[in-house]
Amino acid sequence: MTPLYITHFQLDRAPMSKEIPDAELWTPPSKEALVDDLVGAVEEHRSALLVGEPGVGKTCVLRALRHRLPEARFRLTYCHNATLGRRDFYRQLCVALNLSPSATAAALFHAVSLHVQELGREHAHPVFLLDEAHLLHQDTLDHLHILLNYEWDSRALLSLVLVGLPELADRLSLRRNRSLYSRLHVRRRIAPLTPGDTSDYLRYRLERAACTREIFRPDAVAMLHEAAGGALRAIDRLATAALDEAAVHKRDHVERDIVRRVLALDAEHREF
Ligand SMILES: Nc1ncnc2c1ncn2[C@@H]1O[C@H](COP(=O)(O)OP(=O)(O)OP(=O)(O)O)[C@@H](O)[C@H]1O
Ligand SMILES: [Mg+2]
Repeated sequence: MTPLYITHFQLDRAPMSKEIPDAELWTPPSKEALVDDLVGAVEEHRSALLVGEPGVGKTCVLRALRHRLPEARFRLTYCHNATLGRRDFYRQLCVALNLSPSATAAALFHAVSLHVQELGREHAHPVFLLDEAHLLHQDTLDHLHILLNYEWDSRALLSLVLVGLPELADRLSLRRNRSLYSRLHVRRRIAPLTPGDTSDYLRYRLERAACTREIFRPDAVAMLHEAAGGALRAIDRLATAALDEAAVHKRDHVERDIVRRVLALDAEHREF
C-alpha cells in the first residue's frame, strides 16, 4: 500500500529510500572530491582508506566509485563480510572472483594471487573494496599487505580500498599494522554533513520524487540536521517520519513542531 505521505505530498516514490541507482546518488562537491581522490588512487594502482561514522555515506561513495570506473579497465570485487577469519576471507574472495575455493589457506592465497597477476596481464586492474573493514580479524589484517606485494614489492597489481568506522584508522595506525598502513596511500575521512548540506540533500531527494516545492521549512531542517548529527541514514529516517507526521495532520509543510513530535516519538521508542 502506498504510504499516506506519498499521496498527500504528491510524490512519485519514497524520496528517502536507500534504493537509489548509483548514477543518481547525491554528489555535492565534497563527495565528488572524495570520489575523485579514490578514482585517482586506483588509476595509479594505489590503495586507499576511507573512514566515517555510521550512516555518513561510505558505502554510497563506493557505489559512486563503481559508477565512475570503466568496466573494461577495472575488476571490482566488493566484500562486506569482514568478520571472517583469514581462510574464510580468502574463500569469499575466491567465490567473488569466480575461482574454485581451495582446501587450505595457503592454496587459497596462491589462487587469489595468481588470478590477480593474470588480470594484470589482461590490463584489467583488480580493485578489492573491503567494506566494514573495522571488523576484520587481526590475522586477516596481518596478511593483507602481502596481497599488495608483488614481484619483490616492485609492482602494484592490486588496489585495496578499506572502508569502515573511524576505529579502523586507529587500528591501522598501531605499530603492528604499519606494513599495511604504509601501503594505504590515500586516507580520507567522511565528515558529517553541514546544515547547508542537509538542506541541499533533502531538496535533491525530494526533487527526484517529483516534488517541485519546498516542503521542509528552514528551521525544521535545522532541527532535523542537529538531531541526525549530519548522518545521511538518520536524516533519511527522520525526514520520512516527519513527512508522515505532516501528512497525518494534513499539513502542507514540515515545520518545527512536526519535527519536535517526531523526535519525541523517536526518544520514546528508543526506551524499548
Ligand atoms: N551520496 C548519496 N546519495 C544519496 N543517498 C545517500 C548518499 N550517501 C548516503 N545516502 C543515504 O544514506 C544511507 C546511508 O549511507 P551509507 O550506507 O553509504 O552509509 P555508511 O557510512 O556506509 O554507513 P555504515 O557505517 O553503517 O555502513 C544510504 O542508504 C542512503 O539512503
Ligand atoms: Mg556502509
